[in-house]
Order: sequence, then C-alpha cells, then structure tokens
Amino acid sequence: MPYDNPVRGPGKEKKMSITIKGTGSALPEKTVTNEELSKIVDTGDEWIRERTGIGERRIATGQTVAMLASDAAQKALADAGVDPEKVDLILVATCSGEQALPCVACQVQGLIGAENAVAFDINAACSGFLFALSTAEIYLAQGIYNNALIIGAEVLSNIIDWSDRSTCVLFGDGAGAAYVEKDTRKKALFQFVQGSNGAKGEVLSCGQRDSANCFYRGEEISKYVVMDGREVFRFATRQVPDTIARLLEKAALTCEDVDLFLLHQANLRIIEGIARRLKADIQKFPVNIRHVGNTSSASVPLLLDEVRAAGKLKEGMKVVLAGFGAGLTYSAILLEI
Ligand code: ACO
Repeated sequence: MPYDNPVRGPGKEKKMSITIKGTGSALPEKTVTNEELSKIVDTGDEWIRERTGIGERRIATGQTVAMLASDAAQKALADAGVDPEKVDLILVATCSGEQALPCVACQVQGLIGAENAVAFDINAACSGFLFALSTAEIYLAQGIYNNALIIGAEVLSNIIDWSDRSTCVLFGDGAGAAYVEKDTRKKALFQFVQGSNGAKGEVLSCGQRDSANCFYRGEEISKYVVMDGREVFRFATRQVPDTIARLLEKAALTCEDVDLFLLHQANLRIIEGIARRLKADIQKFPVNIRHVGNTSSASVPLLLDEVRAAGKLKEGMKVVLAGFGAGLTYSAILLEI
C-alpha cells in the first residue's frame, strides 16, 4: 500500500521541512545520437523521437557511477558554499553500481572527503532519488542530522543489451545531486506519497549474479535490462497521475497551485499522458529527455539542476517531483522552494 506521510501538511503544526541549498550535475562527455544508434541496431531517428522524445544521450567511457556521483555532489556543495566535511548524510540512489561492495555512497564519501558523513545507497530504480529525499527529510525532521547530500547516479550503459533495440535506445548515463538543509520556515511544505508493487517486478528487471556456489548451480540469468515496454507505459500513465492527485489532495492543493512538475524522464509521451490525465498545463512540465534520455535515478535531480541553473526555481514556488520505475516503485513529493 502507498505510504502517506501523516505528520506534515497545512493545518497541522509544522515542525520542519527541507530546503534545497545547492544542486549539481555530471554528464559523460560522449554524446550518442539516434543516428549513431541506427548503425548498431535496426532503428532510426524518426522512430526514437516519435515514440520516446529522445534525440541523444550521454554514454560513459570510463567514468564509474561513483565518479559521476562525486562530480555532481561536489558541484552541489560548491553551489551551496558548503565544505564536504560539514555534510552529515550522503544518500546515493542507484541501480547500476559496478561494485557490490563498498556501496556507491561510501565511495563518494571517500572521493569528496566528506569524512563526517554517514553514507549508504538506496535502490528504488527510477524512483530512487525521491525515496532518498524523503528518507533524508525524515532524518532531518527528527533532528538526527542537520543536512544531507542526495545523489541520483547511473551508468546504465553497463547493464543495457546493446543488441536489443527495444531498450538500448532509451537510456543514458549521468548523475544529479542536491544538498539540502533543515528548513524552519513555518509554512514550508514537504509531503510525499510513495509505494511499491513487488508483484509486478518482472515487468522491468535486470539480473546481477547467477545463483551458484560450490554446492549448487542454478540457471544462468540475463545480466541486462529486460523490459515489457507497454506494461511500463500503462503503469506510468495510470499510477503517476493517481499518486500526484492523492498528494495534492492531502495538501489541499490543486494542479493550478503547483508551479512546476519535475517528472522522471522516461518517455515524452508518458509525461504528456500524465499532464493530460491531471488536466495540468503541459508548460509546467519541463523536459530534458531530448538530450539525456532516461537516466533512471539521475533523471529527476538532473532536471532539478537544469531548471535551477536556468533561474526557473524561485523562492515560495510549489514544486511536485515524481518518479516511477522498476520494483515497481513510485513516488511523488511536494515541496516549497
Ligand atoms: N526502433 C525501431 N523499431 C522498434 C524499436 C526501435 N528502437 N523498438 C521496438 N521497435 C519495433 C518493435 O519491434 C515493434 O515492431 P513490430 O510491430 O514489427 O513487432 C514496433 O516497433 C512496436 O513496438 P512496441 O514495443 O509496441 O512500441 P511502443 O509504441 O510500445 O514503444 C516503447 C516502445 C518506446 C518502449 C514504449 O513501450 C514505452 O515508452 N514504454 C515505456 C517504457 C519506458 O519508458 N521504459 C523506460 C524504463 S522504465 C522507467 O524508466 C520507468
């Protein structure tokens, strides 16, 4: 069942929220256009643009998830004017870390010198950044930590089957980060609705290791992303508007009250479908899928950083973030800038 945060909202005593003090992005240098992909698999620019809205994506050539995550994190800290040793908590949302151990967040801690932080990973695929943000907010609201560095980072190109045209055209690599602090403004909003549906996990999956040891050998599994695209499409266009609607209802707001909707960039048609179903103004849904593709947990923080860098986030604005992906998982967060 979806988890509804029961503590905070208009009309209830407001103890605390979070404020975004800095954001940052890291994208690999290599750009791969649809044209280039059509030399690898049987596809074309027209098909990809029409069905997904993607024109090109960035692909890592040597950068690891931790390297991209650290780059984005350092930019977010520089943006906030905060030294790494002041960071209390590092959460990395990822599903494509190259190493099982140590986790990416601990690698980032070492790379950026955030020696006083507690660091761990969260894997909720394309919803990961949102799950990490709501986790951080709870730590901050409880007074356990004063600040947090939330990162979404992926090198999906390592787990994509480059001979499967139905998936390899969709994804890109990158990382986005946000540095957040406690916000004691009396009316500042932070609410979320999130959920998981593990019974539908096979719709979008990726194996990691075969089940094998010196006493047992199971079947060999695919180490690449396998997806039922139509089912994911159906899930996203139904679940996400319902989740956002419930979030707004809880906050006693309507789509008209929301200044921006920053949605996971999986497919332009999904974003348009969600806006239609919500009867919300499509102009409030900025997109960057055209030049970065679907970067899973990096998608929302990359967009957040882009929108912020363009000066489109103004104090007092109400913003809805929404993510959905493998698990299946989904989350929507309402926050005030
Ligand atoms: N280039 C050309 N043709 C292709 C390609 C391609 N890259 N991929 C599939 N096709 C073909 C298929 O083989 C099929 O051919 P056929 O009719 O001869 O069998 C035809 O195009 C239609 O295939 P569909 O899968 O029905 O195409 P659809 O319109 O559903 O679009 C897509 C596929 C884009 C994947 C769509 O289902 C979708 O967007 N689903 C959502 C999935 C998604 O966004 N996943 C991202 C990861 S999940 C996440 O982030 C939440």
